[in-house]
Amino acid sequence: MDWGMKNRLAQLIQNDGRALFLPIDHGYFQGPTRKLEEPGKTVKPLLPYADAIMLTRGILRSSIDPENTKPIILRVSGGTSMARKEELSHEGITTSVEEAIRLNASAVSLSIFVGSEHEHESLLNLSNLVNECEEYGIPAMAVTAVGVELEKREARHLALACRIAAELGARVVKTYYCKEGFEKVVRGCPVPVVMAGGPKVESELGVFEFVHDGIQKGAIGVNLGRNIWQSDYPVAMIRAIRSIIHENATPKEAHELFNEVKSGKKK
Ligand code: R5P
Repeated sequence: MDWGMKNRLAQLIQNDGRALFLPIDHGYFQGPTRKLEEPGKTVKPLLPYADAIMLTRGILRSSIDPENTKPIILRVSGGTSMARKEELSHEGITTSVEEAIRLNASAVSLSIFVGSEHEHESLLNLSNLVNECEEYGIPAMAVTAVGVELEKREARHLALACRIAAELGARVVKTYYCKEGFEKVVRGCPVPVVMAGGPKVESELGVFEFVHDGIQKGAIGVNLGRNIWQSDYPVAMIRAIRSIIHENATPKEAHELFNEVKSGKKK
C-alpha cells in the first residue's frame, strides 16, 4: 500500500484500530433534516469527540471552518431526493476526485444499493470511483444503503452488500448493525466495517447496546449520525459512544457517562 493511502487510513482509523465517524451528509437527499438545519452549528460542539466527519462539498465549504483539522470523508454520490423515494437508488457520482483532493479530503464515500433497481449502476459507480481513488491514494468508503427499505437490515442482505463493496475495492465499508448474525457480516467482509445508526431510536441505552455488541462482533466503530445529533443531549451521546469505541466501556458504563454529561456532573 502506498504511503498516501496508508497515511489517510491512519487519519481515519485510530491507533487502537477503532473509529468514530460523524456523518452530517443527510441533506444531500433529505434536505434540511431535523436538527441538521444548520449543520455548522450542529456539528461544532461534537467535533472534538469525532475521529472524522462525513459530509458533502457544499456543506464543507459553507459550514465548516477551513482551519478545522478533523479528517474529512467527502460524500461524492447523490442526485436523488426524498421527493421521489422510489428513485433513491438512482445515484450518480456528484463530485470529482480532483475536487476531493482540492478539499483535502482524507477519504470519499459513495452509496451502493444492492438488491435495488439501480444496483448495477451503483456498483459500477463504486468501481469507477475506486479506479480513480487508488491512483491518488484516497480510500473510498462504500455506504451500503437500503433507501427506505429498512427491512433489508438483516444479516444475509448486509453480508452480500458488504462483501461486494470490498470485492470492488472499497477500503472501508459502512453497513447497518443487525441483532442476528452480525458477526457473519463482518467475517465475510475483508476490509474494516463501521456501523450506521439509522433513524433515531427512543432509548439511548439501546444505541449503546448495539454499538457495543457490533464492536464485540468485529466492527471497528461507527459512522453514526441521527442517533447522536438528533438527541436532546448530542454531546453526552457522542461522548458515551466514544467511550464504548475507544475505552471499551460497557453499555451500562456508557449510559452512566451519558447521564453524568447530560446532568452537567461531568465536564
Ligand atoms: C445517509 O444519509 C448517510 O449515508 C449517513 O451518513 C448514514 O446513513 C449514517 O447516518 P445515520 O446514523 O443517521 O443513519
